[in-house]
Amino acid sequence: MLPAAAMTTPIYLDHHATTPIDPRVLDAMLPSLRDEFGNPSSRHHAFGRRAAARVEEARERVAQALGARYADVVFTSGATESNAIAIQGVARTHPGAHLVTTAIEHRAVLDTCRRLEREGWRLTVVPVDRHGRVDPQHIRDALAPDTVLVSVMAANNEIGTVQPLAEIGAALRDSQALFHVDATQAVGRVALDVEALGIDLLSLSAHKIYGPKGVGALYRRRRPRRVELQPLVDGGGQEDGLRPGTLNVPGIVGLGVACELAVACRDEENARLHALRERLLAHLTRSLDGLTVNGHPQWRLAGNLNIGIDGVEPEALLLGLPELALSAGAACASASARPSHVLEAIGASGSATRAALRFGLGRFNTAEEIDRAAALVVARVRALRAAR
Ligand SMILES: Cc1ncc(COP(=O)(O)O)c(C=O)c1O
Repeated sequence: MLPAAAMTTPIYLDHHATTPIDPRVLDAMLPSLRDEFGNPSSRHHAFGRRAAARVEEARERVAQALGARYADVVFTSGATESNAIAIQGVARTHPGAHLVTTAIEHRAVLDTCRRLEREGWRLTVVPVDRHGRVDPQHIRDALAPDTVLVSVMAANNEIGTVQPLAEIGAALRDSQALFHVDATQAVGRVALDVEALGIDLLSLSAHKIYGPKGVGALYRRRRPRRVELQPLVDGGGQEDGLRPGTLNVPGIVGLGVACELAVACRDEENARLHALRERLLAHLTRSLDGLTVNGHPQWRLAGNLNIGIDGVEPEALLLGLPELALSAGAACASASARPSHVLEAIGASGSATRAALRFGLGRFNTAEEIDRAAALVVARVRALRAAR
């Protein structure tokens, strides 16, 4: 192995997996890591009150980013936990009822729903079209008199497809079913307004929006109809009893600032990332044949490019690209890897000689990095094809 100093840092193109922390977020967090270390539950002294004030400022920032009421934001450890509190919380309030979700949800949603199904709830998994989009009519058709929850992600983490949330929210307006949205990949990339979209529950995570890892939030509607959730954990009653445990104050402060920046930067960042992505795609398609873009041609996250490449083995491709940090979006990146349920759901699950690469472009990527990444991928694919 090379000594660390001899290794050059790869170009980071994996922003769906996680994002680097924005220096402005880090700066905002530092006081809470140094001097303002109080426990926000210690209301009887200044340290605690100071920490509590920071938490409440962050709550306001998260609420603003979602068009939500301040009191409806619950801090969690991330989107996995937010999804669990939302889905299990609703389901366990209605034993044996009916749940609806889609075939391309993150495992945190799909596996939670499947566990509930094994435990006696009924589950309908709605299919998506070949671009990964859900038809709101299919959601409407799936509803039963006892449907208590419909969970649809705002944007997919593999192929970037953005779902028609407004239409789905409208389809649910006259039903008893609550609308949960996993917005982990969408905050700061897609306009989200819980009132306009008719959303009752929404999950998000700081580390996908240039904030710290291990912190997230759940929006839970309380008005006009209060969403009842059965808590998963017992403890000190924090966060309205929904997520007890001492709050991660520095993380929460970071999440608040990350949300604020994400919304403030959204339009400019989307335009920049879209231009970079098109530049990357143009370079690749100019130089290589046998490429397919996975995901929706129009309704797709600006920084997402999931591309199928014929005639190369997924593993060989990635192993030969140590200068790039990106993900295999492949159905079979290795013999032991689980196939991508998302690519399977859109009918693009590939084969042993078809690789899929997931590029996730982000805030700090430059045009030079994109050109270098494209050149490296082209060279590697050509070399692998020549060796066949
Ligand atoms: C769509 C989606 N939902 C949920 C998660 C889980 O988020 P966290 O890492 O905050 O638990 C992720 C992260 O990959 C995601 O992309």
